[in-house]
Amino acid sequence: MAKNIVIVGAQWGDEGKGKIVDILTKNADVVVRFQGGNNAGHTVIVNDEKFVFHLMPSGILHKDKACVIGDGVVVDPEVLVGEIEVLEEKGIFNGDNLHISKNAHLIMPYHKRLDISKERLKGKQKIGTTGRGIGPAYEDKAARVGIKCGDLLDEKLFRAKLKRNIAEKNHYIQNVLHQVGFETHEIYHKYMEITEKIAPFIKDTSFFIYKAMMEKKKILFEGAQGTLLDIDHGTYPYVTSSNTTAGAASVGSGIGPTRIDKTIGITKAYTTRVGEGPFPTELDGKEADRLREHGGEYGATTGRPRRVGWFDALALRYAARINGLDGLVITKLDVLDNLKKIKVCVGYKYNGKKITDFPTEASVLNACTPIYETHEGWLEDTSRIKKFDKLPEKAQRYIRRLEELSGVKAVMISVGAARDDLILIKNPFSR
Ligand code: IMP
Repeated sequence: MAKNIVIVGAQWGDEGKGKIVDILTKNADVVVRFQGGNNAGHTVIVNDEKFVFHLMPSGILHKDKACVIGDGVVVDPEVLVGEIEVLEEKGIFNGDNLHISKNAHLIMPYHKRLDISKERLKGKQKIGTTGRGIGPAYEDKAARVGIKCGDLLDEKLFRAKLKRNIAEKNHYIQNVLHQVGFETHEIYHKYMEITEKIAPFIKDTSFFIYKAMMEKKKILFEGAQGTLLDIDHGTYPYVTSSNTTAGAASVGSGIGPTRIDKTIGITKAYTTRVGEGPFPTELDGKEADRLREHGGEYGATTGRPRRVGWFDALALRYAARINGLDGLVITKLDVLDNLKKIKVCVGYKYNGKKITDFPTEASVLNACTPIYETHEGWLEDTSRIKKFDKLPEKAQRYIRRLEELSGVKAVMISVGAARDDLILIKNPFSR
């Protein structure tokens, strides 16, 4: 039996990981987020009620499961407290099941300002970030001036670090951006107030996970964003500032790579992307509008309309390799129900030649033209189907083809937004 499973996005994020993590949480004892921050938006629908989490592990809706915000996450404490309060109102949060790494870096108010202002300065070269301060927070981490969650527990240390940071940031904000700077005491007081609420949860989460593993508990590592947004393996510079791929589960939660049993990739039955950057199979015009509307493709974090396009088999095969995928979850199959023709990209034309391996360089991808194969649509409602062999034959063929092209078998197929709109082929926690 697999005990420790990593879930990652196999595309550019928004693959529907939240719902899948929520479902798999039933089999797990601990759910861990290991990277990213509140740039993520995980939507889970339970009993017709919609929950959108940005920072909380999606498993938080299960009261008896431990939820960990791991070392590799960047935490905006205001957002965290906001999410705790929503859960408290609903009577879901009991206070015992949240564990925040003392090593996780804090997103500070100046990070958000810098994120938005630097994007503006970039003009046409902008990345289209979520504006949540993610990049600047990771910049400080790498520059070794970041402030960690654990620092909140030592008022003097926190104040000293804050003061140093504000002096440096204000220099840039006032002299380069020509904006009003930040005041140390204002942020200090605000963050100390927040600390009262979250201090009990801040701890050595690596050790917490280790102990859970020693007790033979099952751990689900919940990736945010997607493989192609990975800072090293994605379509740089049009990426996020963390490693979004499966290897990060180990580093970002402080457990050895040998402890991970399986990695599962989530992919939509088509492709979407938010923000700037190359997207070879992107659609435009009416075709794009139809797919966007059917799929409800608007960002859970920013509300931005998502860019939409056909399924890209090169990208998925790449994700399978980078993450070492053992299984696929294909989501939103039902969104394709009304299409007469469905295309799948099986190669790119680049410099007059066919290529079948995904290039990550933005300049190369921008110069690639997709080579498609066309599938006949099934034109039937799949949204209530619970068994693979009950799917229309053409839909089965479509899934089989995606498996063949990626070299990875589907373990689940999602056919709607609700928890039970699901075809379970094989539970990833089983052998
Ligand atoms: P950042 O992570 O806010 O710095 O944004 C960098 C890029 O990643 C932008 O193109 C964002 O749209 C994209 N991005 C960040 N988080 C998500 C996500 O959860 N889903 C999809 N795209 C995301």
